Amino acid sequence: MFDLVIENGIINYGQTYGCFYIQLLKTLQVTASEVLPLGIEIGIKDGKISCLGTSLPRDADTQIIDAKGGFITPGGVDSHVHFAQNNSPTGDNFTTGSRSAIAGGTTTVLAFASQLKTETSVIPCLDNYLLRAKDQTYCDYGIHLILTNPTPEIMSTEMPLLINRGITSVKLYMTYEPMKLGDSQLLDVLMSARALGFTTMIHAENSDIISLITDRLEAAGHTDPFFHAISRPQIAENEATYRIISLAELTDTPILIVHMSSEVAMKHVRKAQTRMLPIHAETCPQYLFLLSERLKGNPQDTFAGAKCVCSPPLRHDPKDLEAMWRGIANGTFTTFSSDHAPSTYDHAGGKKLGLKDGIMRYRDIPNGVPGVETRLPLLFSYAGREKDSRLSLQRFVQLTSSDPAKLYGLEGTKGNIAPGYDADLVIWYGEEDLREGVTIEQKNLHHGVDYTPYEGMHVKNWPRFTLLRGKTVWDRDGGGIVGDVTDGQFLKRGMGKIVVGKTGGEVNGMLPGERDYWY
Ligand code: URP
Ligand code: ZN
Ligand code: ZN
Ligand code: ZN
Repeated sequence: MFDLVIENGIINYGQTYGCFYIQLLKTLQVTASEVLPLGIEIGIKDGKISCLGTSLPRDADTQIIDAKGGFITPGGVDSHVHFAQNNSPTGDNFTTGSRSAIAGGTTTVLAFASQLKTETSVIPCLDNYLLRAKDQTYCDYGIHLILTNPTPEIMSTEMPLLINRGITSVKLYMTYEPMKLGDSQLLDVLMSARALGFTTMIHAENSDIISLITDRLEAAGHTDPFFHAISRPQIAENEATYRIISLAELTDTPILIVHMSSEVAMKHVRKAQTRMLPIHAETCPQYLFLLSERLKGNPQDTFAGAKCVCSPPLRHDPKDLEAMWRGIANGTFTTFSSDHAPSTYDHAGGKKLGLKDGIMRYRDIPNGVPGVETRLPLLFSYAGREKDSRLSLQRFVQLTSSDPAKLYGLEGTKGNIAPGYDADLVIWYGEEDLREGVTIEQKNLHHGVDYTPYEGMHVKNWPRFTLLRGKTVWDRDGGGIVGDVTDGQFLKRGMGKIVVGKTGGEVNGMLPGERDYWY
């Protein structure tokens, strides 16, 4: 790597080598493109990856981490977490949520600031959410804006200002009364997002289908947590997914459909991608591992099903899980995020909001499950080339780190092990060091809520070290959380890049060029 190495001199390393190498020995580094052979070392300087090479020079000040034959992957980028949101007062804040993130190998989170429908400016809302994070976060973070009232003023005047502030993505809801947008609003925002280059995330479920079923279920006395899943059938996700893909195609706007849970809906995405439309999709651990059976609770606590209330709901058939795994392996999904949106179970204002005077009402249960800490270990257990593997190591890195970084404007900084990138790294255990794997238990997790839906599940590996910009922030065998709550920096993001498809393609049923008349 160096043209010249001078030996036996008296080196004033304070100046000449004011660098800080972390030398990683005997390791395999997994990036989105390849697995490098054992023996390649990573040199880190000033929090950045400076070089990859063999026999990197080191001196007395060089800190050495021996990765002991373990895999090294880029720090996780969890592009969908809910921290400190107004509508989940018993959920995680930036401190507890990001603490949980680094313990599970995630070094970057993208959290939401949520506009209230009554707000006619999004600036105070954003400033407020940024204050909740500043100096209270263990990992780096960026902010997406949930737009619930996209006024013409906001779209024309405020959105361009957000770009300068590094907020380059919005989430739109097609369901939930306090958040949902109608088709004309969706179209307006898509047109603006296209013009400005924003990345647009969509929660796709048909609101009226859900309301109709919920009202009728309630009238019939069916209000247990299990009926949450009955009230949000796959056809609600299917219809909204097809509709938003159509609106995105019409307006030639790249989108990402978040937290997809069912095969019928996923097929629309796959078909659109085959036509080279820039339609991205996300799925989450809960849709790979959990079934709606969980909503029935257990004999000791019949309300415990509330813990697994999330939207879209858990599906009932193992075939649905299989379908999501196929989407993971075959490239339909661009991101694998946690949608970490928990509420404390056993606490006023938490999940037990849905339990009043002995009556269960799923309508009142806050939606969302915890998962920011378990996301990487759960997926990593199935990555590789073993008999039970379901995705390649490269796909693992793409889904959990490099593609979300690209899609949300962090390419060049996050999501890769390459010179110039932030030294955000996960060092996993080598084969000899963790033979029995790890059993997931609430008591070992670092979030602020009181349960995990993955209790008792077994994973093969766990992050041994997590490094944030060259600093060890998680050392599983040496103190656990060793980072500081002020380590996390706000990420001013650039414009996101399309990962699949392209813009400027032909529109179903329109002649080439017809769109130019009205664009
Ligand atoms: O149930 C969920 N996912 N709640 C969180 C909010 C959302 O829609 O992502
Ligand atoms: Zn959502
Ligand atoms: Zn969410
Ligand atoms: Zn309390």
